[in-house]
Amino acid sequence: MEKNNENNGLDWSNLSFGYMKTDFNVRCAYKDGKWGEVEVSESEYINLHMAATCLHYGQEIFEGLKAFKGKDGKIRIFRLEENAKRIRRSAEGIKMAPLPEEKFREMVEKVVKLNERFIPPYGSGSSLYIRPLEIGISAQVGVKPASEYLFLIFVTPVGPYFKEGFKPTKVAIYREFDRAAPCGTGRWKVGGNYAASLAAGELARQGGYSAVLYLDPKEKKYIDECGPANFFAIKDGKYITPKSGSILPSITNMSLQQIAKDMGLEVECRPVPLEELDTVEEAAECGTAAVAAPISEVHDIDTGKKYVIAKDGQPGLVTTQLYNHLRAIQLGDEPDVHNWVSIID
Ligand code: PLP
Ligand code: COI
Repeated sequence: MEKNNENNGLDWSNLSFGYMKTDFNVRCAYKDGKWGEVEVSESEYINLHMAATCLHYGQEIFEGLKAFKGKDGKIRIFRLEENAKRIRRSAEGIKMAPLPEEKFREMVEKVVKLNERFIPPYGSGSSLYIRPLEIGISAQVGVKPASEYLFLIFVTPVGPYFKEGFKPTKVAIYREFDRAAPCGTGRWKVGGNYAASLAAGELARQGGYSAVLYLDPKEKKYIDECGPANFFAIKDGKYITPKSGSILPSITNMSLQQIAKDMGLEVECRPVPLEELDTVEEAAECGTAAVAAPISEVHDIDTGKKYVIAKDGQPGLVTTQLYNHLRAIQLGDEPDVHNWVSIID
């Protein structure tokens, strides 16, 4: 089943964050109360019933994680177990069949190995993005959970999520839009959250902002997160990040908090009032796709207030150090002291 191992004519250092066809995807179906065998497919398409619950009632969850090629030629997958746990929580959150974590590992390792020729080489700055997703597929029209599911994983080589790379960008707040409700699905990685973010996201794109920064949907007083990433700020030797029930618990954020502690910073996970932005020294968006992307300015569109963070337009020192440590662990350039990396051979 292996395809030949040439470098595909790809310009590895200049990839965008987009979809590219690779050789194989892996699939597993849930039927009659149990998960079946993992199947390998070369097709980019799914044959779906028109009454599938994912199409009508949004029974769709997904994940995002990355594989890297180290200097030693080994393949490293970052924090696979955490993504396995999170997609299980997402499944439970919207009443889908949860995939056992061992099955998640089996599928991720298989799809990465099968597509090894698409893992960007060490030094390119790119990585292999792994996109697991699960959908409700049984045909029904009543609003209730499906009885059958499909779990699928595809991969695609990617460059930076923001075209600016590590250069600070502006983000915008649009107070008439929320991506999640106070007790809603924001804490899970549910497709509908992203549908809810598209209108504000388009306004941001048209306005030249890299992303929307959402406020807490209940009081509009505290910072929640960005459309595709969590938020953190640096102030007085502290790493400060929002605690909120309506944001996605980011695995990158969790990792950066640990790296910050290892660097001697104090970590505060608490409600972060928007006004506090007047006093922070650095701010960034963090996530698998975004990594740690510095924020230069936050524009509160409705009030007209601008919080200027990176006055010189350069990434802050602490954000740079956090970014470098994280990348070094992912690539195997620094020891994996917290056991975050799965090496596959
Ligand atoms: N918040 C949202 C809304 C996201 O889509 C993502 C991306 O996955 C994150 C945060 C970051 O999470 P992670 O670091 O686990 O990728
Ligand atoms: C990720 O960082 O993996 C994401 O899912 C963010 C975005 C591409 C939706």
